[in-house]
Amino acid sequence: MAKQVLSLSLLLVFLFHCTTTSGQPAQAPTLPAVAPAAPANAPAPPGPPDVTKILQKVGGFTILIRLLKSTGVADQLRGQLNDSSIRFTLFAPNDNAFSNLKAGTLNSLNNEEKVRLIQFHILPTYYTLENFQTVSNPVRTQAGDNKPGDYPLNVTSVGSQVIISTGLVNASVSGTLYSNFQLAIYQVDKVLLPLDLFVAKPPSPAPAPAPTKPKPKKTTAAASPETSTTATPTVVNSGAVSLATHGILVSLGVAVLIATFSL
Ligand SMILES: *[C@@H]1O[C@H](CO)[C@@H](O)[C@H](O)[C@H]1NC(C)=O
Ligand SMILES: *[C@@H]1O[C@H](CO)[C@@H](O)[C@H](O)[C@H]1NC(C)=O
Ligand SMILES: *[C@@H]1O[C@H](CO)[C@@H](O)[C@H](O)[C@H]1NC(C)=O
Repeated sequence: MAKQVLSLSLLLVFLFHCTTTSGQPAQAPTLPAVAPAAPANAPAPPGPPDVTKILQKVGGFTILIRLLKSTGVADQLRGQLNDSSIRFTLFAPNDNAFSNLKAGTLNSLNNEEKVRLIQFHILPTYYTLENFQTVSNPVRTQAGDNKPGDYPLNVTSVGSQVIISTGLVNASVSGTLYSNFQLAIYQVDKVLLPLDLFVAKPPSPAPAPAPTKPKPKKTTAAASPETSTTATPTVVNSGAVSLATHGILVSLGVAVLIATFSL
């Protein structure tokens, strides 16, 4: 009997030991305030700065964020910033700056050109605002990597104002959004349009609607439903439907007429 009690108490001690060391506070209410073994809820160690998360937090940068993501530049930056010796400065136009662009400006760019537009906003160096007072122009951007000098960007300081000139746009820095000695993000009041993307190439003409030559009117009643519908491509749906119906009726009428005559 004593043996059983002893083994039972041993078992209890063993069980208590298990529950206390497994670090589940719910099952060990009398546990002293020892640091839990698994810090699952502790904040993750600060990783590399994430440009899109920073911009999201600031707010008002949805178009830039979308472009950073769709071009793959966001992932590229995150990967590179993982190496703490790699530094960047980003000029960030907000949604307002994008909406001030001429209509269709972004849509006129193919994917590769969008990548270069975004890279044009990134300098492969960390600049403080004070650094811009002594920077030598033109400064290098990410877009200029494969063809140096192709995408010149000048940064000048006039008093406390920092002006960025692309040759096409003069923008000014309107605030510091982030700065941690590896990454600086400055808000700019305009989208930095590189000269090479928007002037060197001839402006693509607006896709004019194909001149629809009026089809020679057929004098015979042999018009098929197809010709009667395709001849009016711009009419609203209801009109097209009624025209098509009309065409079919005409064809039917012709068929009936032919049938009658062939009898
Ligand atoms: C950053 O570097 C660490 C260690 O070098 C690696 O485990 C991690 O996957 C990297 N993260 C990214 C986003 O590249
Ligand atoms: C940029 O600076 C360089 C050197 O000072 C100058 O030659 C060039 O004209 C400037 N370009 C623009 C767009 O301001
Ligand atoms: C930009 O600023 C320079 C110098 O102030 C001026 O000569 C130029 O015309 C401006 N360009 C635009 C596009 O506003």
